[in-house]
Amino acid sequence: MVPDGGVRARRYLDDGRGAVVELPAGDVTVGVIRIGETVRRPHQRQSWAVASYLDHLASVGFTIDGSPASPRFLGLDAEGRDTLTFIPGDVAEAVLEPWVLTDALLESVAVLVTALHRASAGFEPVAEPFPAREIAQDPFELVTHLDVTPQNVVVRDGRAIGLVDFDLAGPSTRFTDSVNAAMHWVPLRDPVDLPASSRGLDQLARLKIFADASDWTVAERRSCARFAADRAALSWRRMRLRAESGGGWARLWQEGVGDVIERRRLWLLDRETAIVNTLLSPV
Ligand SMILES: Nc1ncnc2c1ncn2[C@@H]1O[C@H](COP(=O)(O)OP(=O)(O)O)[C@@H](O)[C@H]1O
Ligand SMILES: [Mg+2]
Repeated sequence: MVPDGGVRARRYLDDGRGAVVELPAGDVTVGVIRIGETVRRPHQRQSWAVASYLDHLASVGFTIDGSPASPRFLGLDAEGRDTLTFIPGDVAEAVLEPWVLTDALLESVAVLVTALHRASAGFEPVAEPFPAREIAQDPFELVTHLDVTPQNVVVRDGRAIGLVDFDLAGPSTRFTDSVNAAMHWVPLRDPVDLPASSRGLDQLARLKIFADASDWTVAERRSCARFAADRAALSWRRMRLRAESGGGWARLWQEGVGDVIERRRLWLLDRETAIVNTLLSPV
């Protein structure tokens, strides 16, 4: 398949048979629903770039255990919504249940993200460029997901087998994406901001599991805490800017996401030495 193969012209003709099922609310997008084996999402300004990227991932065979690990873009439906394939499995909801917090799942998320990076190599978003990032454009190493939260990973038999919600995908670096995924999944945040279900997790031990499964280099292990703290500062600025556009982002900001991010930054810097020592210790 040609990566830029006419995504704008693609149309999804509804067979009218699938039942409409509401999907668990994600973080931001209003109106994501499942109809039969498809997902319908409001069309957005990055949709064409995302569609080209999903075409690329399908063409290079981004799969886990032989099943597609990312949705296919099927086209716009009669109502002008993006139509994507549904990936069957379990997805975490906002309140994390114990099955989301196992070390085996964490490790498999690192493996999935690493596989995504391999599959993304060579994709250049030329025909359908991604909208520029707010504030600071990341350096271009590859196009990648950049929002690997528990709510965007499909799980089967306790293992991560698929990624959904490529709304924030774009040019960046492997390490940025990987640290971001670790931040959500370890999770890297001040324990005062952990929900009851996540309290008591050994965050440093989990970060080491993630780093080892991602094959982080020694230099990456040394820089991880400071890098993640710098990303938190950037994320605070981006979130505040997006909140000005209203909608889901404004709601997140009102709920205090900015304060959580700032506490994360300070928590990481306070623990920099311990994090580096843990990541450099033998397995
Ligand atoms: N292609 C898909 N396959 C399976 N589940 C999906 C798919 N797309 C979305 N979902 C489910 O719907 C939820 C919300 O969709 P998502 O695209 O993540 O929206 P948001 O931008 O609001 O986070 C996801 O957390 C997931 O449970
Ligand atoms: Mg989502």
